[in-house]
Amino acid sequence: MATPELLEVKIARRLDEAEGIVSLELVSVSGTGLPAFEAGSHVDIHIAPGIIRQYSLCNDPRETHRYLFGILREPQSRGGSSAIHEGFSEGRTLRISQPRNNFKLKENARHSILAGGGIGITPILCMAWRLQTLGASFELHYCARSLERAAFMNTLKAVPFADAVFLHLDDGPDSQRFAVDRYLAKPDPGTQLYTCGPGGFMEYVISGAKRFGWDDGHVHVEYFSASVDTTGAAFTVRAARSGLSLTIPADKTIAEVLLANHVEVPLSCEQGVCGTCLTRVLEGLPDHRDGYQTDEEKAANNQMTLCCSRARTAVIVLDI
Ligand code: FES
Repeated sequence: MATPELLEVKIARRLDEAEGIVSLELVSVSGTGLPAFEAGSHVDIHIAPGIIRQYSLCNDPRETHRYLFGILREPQSRGGSSAIHEGFSEGRTLRISQPRNNFKLKENARHSILAGGGIGITPILCMAWRLQTLGASFELHYCARSLERAAFMNTLKAVPFADAVFLHLDDGPDSQRFAVDRYLAKPDPGTQLYTCGPGGFMEYVISGAKRFGWDDGHVHVEYFSASVDTTGAAFTVRAARSGLSLTIPADKTIAEVLLANHVEVPLSCEQGVCGTCLTRVLEGLPDHRDGYQTDEEKAANNQMTLCCSRARTAVIVLDI
């Protein structure tokens, strides 16, 4: 698959949205519009050489003149969010990928429940805009640690769907918390649930939904960073261009073994979310562990991410 063209954009506006969260409004450098995006989409922001991070679009998908992002300074930043917070000011130009969508809305649902935790509000907000445009029924639950850490509060008060927004603060009274037994206790075939946020929050929502009998097809999740299990049975990789045949042991990734054998592997997130290490498969079947490719792309089995994915066949031949 050819790498889609990168977009040259500049920061038109930067705002402090909440404690540790800034928003960036990006517009095209050329002054033309930006490619259309679907609710739930993200782009890769090229932050510095070798540092590419994924951020969800949070503005109304009808807007084509700008992309809006909310960026949390991660306490355990590996250089991405801290570089943005420290060095990305208005006027700066940068490169981003085309929008991609791994978190699609079921637009014909009778009702949708959107649950965003912390910075997970970003794709959720974009979905709310889309549902509003469709005239669809939905409720948006925004869970934050405190009012000071809740981003986009001014936006949420002004949106035409403000009545559908429910704010839940960890430091507020119990009665206003997002309790799964209050909001998710009655699964309905016509209702879809979407959630995005920190791991603990997502786990609470997903396990709560399961407990009340929601089926997987009605629960949609977006992870910011994957906690991927990269282990599994050993297999052999034939690196066609390098002329090497290597065993990938149970506890090592393909990328680790290739690098140890002096085969260059482009890497960025190393968590299966950015697609930097995507490589063509010439023979054999991958065991996809990434969150980057769509289900259709995975089903085609003609490319795989080397930082986390494994093989379902004893031998896999790669174009590397
Ligand atoms: Fe990001 Fe492999 S390095 S998907």
